Amino acid sequence: MELLTAIQQRHSVRSYLDKPIGKDVCDKLQGVIDECNAQSGLHIRLVTNEPKAFDSFMAHYGKFSGVKSYVALIGKKGEGTDEKIGYYGEKIVLAAQMMGLNTCWVAMTYKKVKSALNIAKDEKIYCVLALGYGATQGVKHKNKTLEEVCKYNVNPVPEWFMNGVNAALLAPTAMNQQKFCFSLLSGNKVEATTKSGFYSKIDLGIAKYHFEVGAGKDNFNWQ
Ligand SMILES: Cc1cc2nc3c(=O)[nH]c(=O)nc-3n(C[C@H](O)[C@H](O)[C@H](O)COP(=O)(O)O)c2cc1C
Repeated sequence: MELLTAIQQRHSVRSYLDKPIGKDVCDKLQGVIDECNAQSGLHIRLVTNEPKAFDSFMAHYGKFSGVKSYVALIGKKGEGTDEKIGYYGEKIVLAAQMMGLNTCWVAMTYKKVKSALNIAKDEKIYCVLALGYGATQGVKHKNKTLEEVCKYNVNPVPEWFMNGVNAALLAPTAMNQQKFCFSLLSGNKVEATTKSGFYSKIDLGIAKYHFEVGAGKDNFNWQ
């Protein structure tokens, strides 16, 4: 499966089948996570086939069921980490989708998780990705209009730019808030900004990864 197909097929899934993730798939996903950690300096961790752990963290999250595996998105507290968590977390989400798995980003700040995972004092668990074989494939979310999420003042607008914006519109965002905006500047530069909101910086990192996949990384530079 191509990354762009994974972007089109991915939707949040909150109910999972009682089907363990096999060793081959776990190893492959761990390989992707190792690569993300090496590139980013984050400490992302994969926890598979451990129903008890997730249930105890997720007691308040009635809408989730059958979650036995998850990815804990952990990094040093500080400026810039939120966006990195979004970017690399979504890389893992799309890699998982390509392996036939389903996911859902989960906003999670409980102290309980922190002590269970032995997280260092200067680190924080930013989010969790629920992971497994979905009972369904989820449903397509509602989108903002193109005018609300991008700006340009050239005519015609390059195809790669619109492909990037359309891929970003398929990205998961907290409460589907889609607060990001992509602006096309001169010299094939693109500026990505976000209005403020809960988890909007994580959302921005997620949307930027989608934009790169849709636009093609070689077609532009980030401002
Ligand atoms: C940073 C972030 C946090 C999220 N937190 C939750 C959550 O706590 N509970 C939940 O059910 N969904 C959560 N979601 C999933 C969003 O509701 C979902 O991505 C959005 O509605 C768009 O739907 P889609 O992912 O199916 O495209 C979160 C998504 C993101 C990106």
